[in-house]
Amino acid sequence: MLEELHRLRAQAEEELQAVEDLAALDAWRRTYVGKNGLVTQALRGIGKLPPDQRPAAGQLANEVRQTLESAFEARQAALQQRALDEDLAKGAIDVRLPGRPPSVGTLHLSTQTLREIYAIFAQMGFQVLRSREVEDDTTNFQLLNIPPHHPARDMWSTFYTTTPGALLRTHTSPGQIHAMRKHYPEPIRVILPGKCYRYEQVTLRSEHMFHQVEGLAVGRNITMADLKGVLTNFARQMFGAERKLRFRPSYFPFTEPSAEADIDCILCAGAGCPMCKYTGWLEILGAGMVHPTVLRNGGYDPDVYSGFAFGMGPERLAILKHRITDIRNFFSGDVRFLQQFP
Ligand code: PHE
Repeated sequence: MLEELHRLRAQAEEELQAVEDLAALDAWRRTYVGKNGLVTQALRGIGKLPPDQRPAAGQLANEVRQTLESAFEARQAALQQRALDEDLAKGAIDVRLPGRPPSVGTLHLSTQTLREIYAIFAQMGFQVLRSREVEDDTTNFQLLNIPPHHPARDMWSTFYTTTPGALLRTHTSPGQIHAMRKHYPEPIRVILPGKCYRYEQVTLRSEHMFHQVEGLAVGRNITMADLKGVLTNFARQMFGAERKLRFRPSYFPFTEPSAEADIDCILCAGAGCPMCKYTGWLEILGAGMVHPTVLRNGGYDPDVYSGFAFGMGPERLAILKHRITDIRNFFSGDVRFLQQFP
């Protein structure tokens, strides 16, 4: 009996080594340690042995059963692990693939230019003030000294709404009226940035929508020399310390006198080239002394106060600075254009 058990154990262990899958393992279990397995039968047979042989045989049979049961469990665990490993390997993601780089956005060139402008005027004490894009005829035109019949309305034609008198502002100049009415009788030093709209043919140089930055200073004893000083400082910080600024007489209904400001050409420094159309100068903005009527409309007595105002287009400035040939690029939504200005 004892020999028989030793042999059984050796045989079972050997066979277990050969078991390679869970189905074969189950068969092995039934053969040896299952309800009718060989070890189980041997245990049952112990009762039929002569009494003096029973204790030794019983002890060994139990030992064999325990050994085989733990061997079974170990093999089962190993096979399950192997099956799991194989499964994982089959559905595995190859983590060695290079990742897709997240695309990081950049600020729009208009925004970048606006911020450059804010920074320069902030140094000179100008605060940024916001004004509405949907204006009324009164503020966009009439309070700026442009009555209904005035021919200047031609160049400031815009988009009208179904509400009588409500329109999209053609310039940031109506912000002058809001600023004055808000701050009277304080001195004012503000810039008013924002979008403007014009009803006109879209070309290389003009868009339906664009930005402007209005500047306004109101106080006592403000002169055109202050205006020229502020704008010269701006032009030099924006376009280079060696820049020259010149005023050309011009006309705006809301300033008197009015001027257009040019800088010497940033490409040829005044010598004449295609960029400046051989004039040596590049126009950068319109400006002037706030018209007495406009001061009065803002609540300021023109006999006591004076002021200057200017209006510039950041897209136009960026076109000059970066030699952009078509203003339509700004709002076409083509990232290939925008990515050139990270
Ligand atoms: N509002 C004028 C324009 O749109 C520019 C300007 C602003 C001129 C302020 C003088 C003073 O062209």
